[in-house]
Amino acid sequence: MKALILIGGLGTRLRPFTCNTPKPLLPIVNKLFLLYQIELVKKYGIKEVIFCLAYLAHTFENHFGNGSKYGIKIHYVHEQEPRGTGGAIKNAQKYIDGQALIFNGDVLMNIDIETMRRYHVKNKAKVTIALTKVKDPTVYGLVETAKNGQIERFLEKPSWDEVTCNTINAGVYIFEPEVLSLIPPGINYSVERGLFPNLLSKNEKLLGFINTSYWIDIGTIEKYLQVHFDIIDGLVGASIAGRKTGKNIWQGSNSFISKEAVIDGKLVMGNKARIEEFAQINGKVTLGHGVIIRQGAVLSNCVVHDNTEVGEGARLEKCLVGKQCIIETHSVLSPGTALADYSVVKKYSKL
Ligand code: GDD
Ligand code: MG
Repeated sequence: MKALILIGGLGTRLRPFTCNTPKPLLPIVNKLFLLYQIELVKKYGIKEVIFCLAYLAHTFENHFGNGSKYGIKIHYVHEQEPRGTGGAIKNAQKYIDGQALIFNGDVLMNIDIETMRRYHVKNKAKVTIALTKVKDPTVYGLVETAKNGQIERFLEKPSWDEVTCNTINAGVYIFEPEVLSLIPPGINYSVERGLFPNLLSKNEKLLGFINTSYWIDIGTIEKYLQVHFDIIDGLVGASIAGRKTGKNIWQGSNSFISKEAVIDGKLVMGNKARIEEFAQINGKVTLGHGVIIRQGAVLSNCVVHDNTEVGEGARLEKCLVGKQCIIETHSVLSPGTALADYSVVKKYSKL
């Protein structure tokens, strides 16, 4: 089975961080998001992955090349202009010669792909969709299933008065190859709004496979922060890079924590990151490579990307800071702040 990853979206809900970097290439606890998906498919013996690209397409090839560095073979398929999830899959048709495992490129989960595949084969499904339960189905694709797993209704982004259950499309599918012939070529087409309702109207076998393991769509700033906290809390089952130097501290190579700094929470530091004296870390904090936290700065529940400097006495709470920013002394970044890459926050600013 080959895997196909849909990674051509604009990532608008994660702006400003996706202005220069596509969503799947954002770091999650100092590791590129896509690497989590690659590790997952490799765990199940998949050796070939097709990347369906549109937005900032060249950046993926620069990072991954032919995939040999990661122990897989990568094929790249570019859309001239974004063709939607269905159009992107259609575009990759020449690589699909059997069952295909298809992923949205922004979901992190611990799904058991082998059990899903066996379920799909045993029940002779045309498409099997992984499902997960959420509190707010209105921002996802709502999926109603019968007791035998057959999907009865697929409704993308329902309004609250259309919500009948809390089960949604987790963004992972197994497709039989012939399904691709039902996707019209050359147009923008969505599997969620077009193909799935179409298969249902034809009474085709569309199955739901309930995933009970961890699942998140990292597509918003709130969720992006959340996945960091969840990984640090060990809820995801993902390994954390770096040396464990304390019960809840992971340090990259050549990183430094002053003996007079106060680490009162869980901390991940990238390579060459530095925390100076009297700085304080509370809650869960991820510092990228080369980040410097100056004297007396206080960070609570934050994610800071590579090579940013947080000045003396600055206070950051529940915020996301892009790469190569300079936050000058005694600035305050309040909860919810999303600071774009390369920003400079002048001293004593309050955001
Ligand atoms: N190549 C390509 N071309 N990829 C695309 C395009 C496109 O035109 N449009 C979207 N994608 C990719 C995105 O990069 C992302 O990885 C994936 O397809 C899904 O797009 P999102 O924009 O993240 O969709 P969503 O989160 O609103 O909804 C989707 O995911 C939910 C689960 O997270 C739907 O599949 C929902 O039904 C589902 O519940
Ligand atoms: Mg999404």
